[in-house]
Amino acid sequence: MDEKQWKEIMEREPIAPHIAERMEQLRAHHQEVIDAEWIKRPTMIEGMRKAGTVNTGCLDEVAKHIHAGMSTQEIDDIVSSYTKQHGGICAPLNYEGYPKSVCTSINGEVCHGIPARHRKLRDGDIINVDCTTILDGYYADASRMFLIGNVSEERRRLVEETKKCLEVGLQAVKPWGHVGDIGYAISRYARSKGYSVVRELGGHGVGIGFHEDPFVSHVGKKDTGMVLVPGMTITIEPMINAGKAAVRLDPYNGWTVYTADGKDSAQWEHTILITETGYEILTY
Ligand code: MF3
Ligand code: CO
Ligand code: CO
Repeated sequence: MDEKQWKEIMEREPIAPHIAERMEQLRAHHQEVIDAEWIKRPTMIEGMRKAGTVNTGCLDEVAKHIHAGMSTQEIDDIVSSYTKQHGGICAPLNYEGYPKSVCTSINGEVCHGIPARHRKLRDGDIINVDCTTILDGYYADASRMFLIGNVSEERRRLVEETKKCLEVGLQAVKPWGHVGDIGYAISRYARSKGYSVVRELGGHGVGIGFHEDPFVSHVGKKDTGMVLVPGMTITIEPMINAGKAAVRLDPYNGWTVYTADGKDSAQWEHTILITETGYEILTY
């Protein structure tokens, strides 16, 4: 997004007075409130919705073709060509030096798995495909899990319960609530199922940039952190481990995050808009 264009939209479409006033009041009461420039305006929301539609189409395309024996590079090829065909750009490519167009994280890989020709999907694998689309300068970020062939009951359960964690996190989103409510709900649910929650990585503001404020922890405390103001756009993307919560970074590529104990991990992600009545998923 061009800085000038962004400023123009902000001037043309100011925040509704009742929202701006409430933000001010909360600030006066020492609550953490995002700067007005990060509250998305109708034109921006429309742009993000369109980016979300391409993002969803892209993951649907992956879903159609993913199978045992295919390489993660082939997933990268699908994501890259679908995105280009629909006028978009893959945000990961060259992002802080990231070398590919999508993240493909298998089994004990928590996130940021790098596609490669030699990395073939095997029967029984679980894989997260995390796709971030830029369309006309607007970002949409979402990921899904895929089951490859005959997957063990244990792995299926992890994948399903992690999806439930995202849903539980979404249900905790209330306008004028707090970011901490989301992580509180997710971690309580995950632990009740015997799983652990990754702490080092989390969701984030998104829309004009890839990673905006706030950081959306999946282990938050109720009524803490930033206020969820209508017009904010964030991701929720819990990474849930079958074993311990600890992770380690790949020392060779500097990107891929693994579970420290080598056990499985799953993740689901959506980009959402905080609305005056709740939230809207932008990556459906
Ligand atoms: N899509 C990831 C997220 O959900 C970020 C990937 S960064 C990359 O925030 F460089 F690895 F692509
Ligand atoms: Co994200
Ligand atoms: Co993502």
